Amino acid sequence: MARNQGMTGFVQTEPAPAKINLALHVVGQRPDGYHLLDMLVTFTRFGDRVGIAPAEADRFTLSGRFAPQLQDGPASGNLALKARDLLRVALLRQGTAAPPVHLHLEKNLPVASGIGGGSADAAATLRVLLRHWRAALPAAELADLALQLGADVPMCLLARPLVAAGIGERLTVLEDLPSFPIVLVNPLVGVSTPDIFRRLSTKENPPLAASAAIGAAAWLSAMRSMRNDLEEPARVICPVIDAVRTELDRSGAQLVRMSGSGATCFGLYGTTEAARRAAQALETARPDWFVVATESYDGGDPHGAA
Ligand code: C5P
Repeated sequence: MARNQGMTGFVQTEPAPAKINLALHVVGQRPDGYHLLDMLVTFTRFGDRVGIAPAEADRFTLSGRFAPQLQDGPASGNLALKARDLLRVALLRQGTAAPPVHLHLEKNLPVASGIGGGSADAAATLRVLLRHWRAALPAAELADLALQLGADVPMCLLARPLVAAGIGERLTVLEDLPSFPIVLVNPLVGVSTPDIFRRLSTKENPPLAASAAIGAAAWLSAMRSMRNDLEEPARVICPVIDAVRTELDRSGAQLVRMSGSGATCFGLYGTTEAARRAAQALETARPDWFVVATESYDGGDPHGAA
């Protein structure tokens, strides 16, 4: 797996927006051990990026701040490559050609950080390859394939505000969730999702109350009554999460919460300027942390058309 300079020369590129769990309620457990969740999810303009170019043989390259973490592991373990391989098998089965590609991943999101980096990469790979190969799969088959890659991949495939139930496969798109200025903070400590779920003491908490909120203020007030049930076990395994939350609380955020199984926490702000100032102050105070000011992803391409 080679390291390369960036996205120039790729015929198609696709954003892989970070996933934010605005709320995550654990509501039960399946016989196979997977936890049943109710989640309120949005995506951010900040994320990874996947590029594609035709090639003689399959290739995979990486760039970006967090590429070195992935370079250390086996390329075969990368979820983007698993997505490519599963999609190719499904397309060949229906008689659609899926020729070799050079797949490039710009890794801007910290690894194992609760904001769906690997899942976002897999979902973006599916979207960009379907476009590149001018191919399609029946919607239910594509959703199944995404779920095989990971519980968060189906929602990352949609990359729109939504409520997710089950283990993340029952999705309801929310048309009226407002866009928020967001600051993401990660203390650069990786957290293992299975470890957090194993430490969960209560496996049946109250579900997410159905919200009919309209407007940012009503949504904020609805979200304040929600939780992330994985925060408690995550703070035991990774106590620095408390410090991250405290810094975000002090930075003028209207709502502070951990995303997914951590350790990334986020703050929501009233204005883009407030988020930008908070991120600047946090970066100065904690240069050893990952800090980024962003906003909700609106379905457009933050880097312009490919
Ligand atoms: O699906 P994904 O690979 O992200 O899940 C990683 C692990 O987290 C699972 O193997 C499982 O132990 C745990 N998990 C869970 N319930 C979920 C999602 C993940 O227990 N809904």
